[in-house]
Amino acid sequence: MEHIDVAAREAYIQQLFAPEDDVLREIREEAAERGLPDIHIRPEEGRMIQVLLKAVGARRVLEIGALAGYSGVWIARALPEGGRLFSLEKDAERARLVREMFRRAGLSEKTEVRVGQAPGGLEALSVEGPFCAVFIDADKTGYPDYLDWALDNVRVGGLVLAHNAFYHDRVFDADQQDDQFVRGVRLFNERLAEEPRLFGTIIPIGDGIAAAVRVG
Ligand SMILES: C[S@@+](CC[C@H](N)C(=O)[O-])C[C@H]1O[C@@H](n2cnc3c(N)ncnc32)[C@H](O)[C@@H]1O
Repeated sequence: MEHIDVAAREAYIQQLFAPEDDVLREIREEAAERGLPDIHIRPEEGRMIQVLLKAVGARRVLEIGALAGYSGVWIARALPEGGRLFSLEKDAERARLVREMFRRAGLSEKTEVRVGQAPGGLEALSVEGPFCAVFIDADKTGYPDYLDWALDNVRVGGLVLAHNAFYHDRVFDADQQDDQFVRGVRLFNERLAEEPRLFGTIIPIGDGIAAAVRVG
């Protein structure tokens, strides 16, 4: 089979469509200085998410798992004037950093960072819906529960998106049966595939972005 250089493809996409500006670079650097893990989405994933949000005319978006605000900046930048991103983050110190980064990006008006832990922390956010998209990027064991919440809180025609849908290629490794994170993502993907109210797939970019439109 023809050799496919995935890294070269992603670098090409990044160079053409998703170059990082100073703020995005600063978020990664500041996060590293504070000892946070390097688990932000990749630029080409950010761009893919932006394209999807634009395609459905997203105005109100919720993300679960904000870390340092990197994905939040990509998302908020894809929203029109008057649009709003709600970022749920369980760690109060991280949430403060996210607010600061949104401020530096000039996105304070468009964003709201809530400290709370999903799934419980999502209850208070239901009143802010219905959402045009929910982006899931928190603990992988919770993915199936977050999918349930998203189904109730995303408008018809809106999107359910999730990061790490391949979970470092472990979801399709038959030897991986015990890891709770692998099981969580696998169950999420299976439910996304089977749910009649969703029409989705996994976009093979970065670590896989699960993407589904609510059709019913
Ligand atoms: C993978 S990081 C998010 C990365 C971020 N989306 C980005 O790409 O820039 C996961 C974040 O989710 C937070 N988190 C984990 N479980 C959570 C939960 N149940 N509710 C809310 N936040 C959670 C963690 O504290 C961490 O900051």
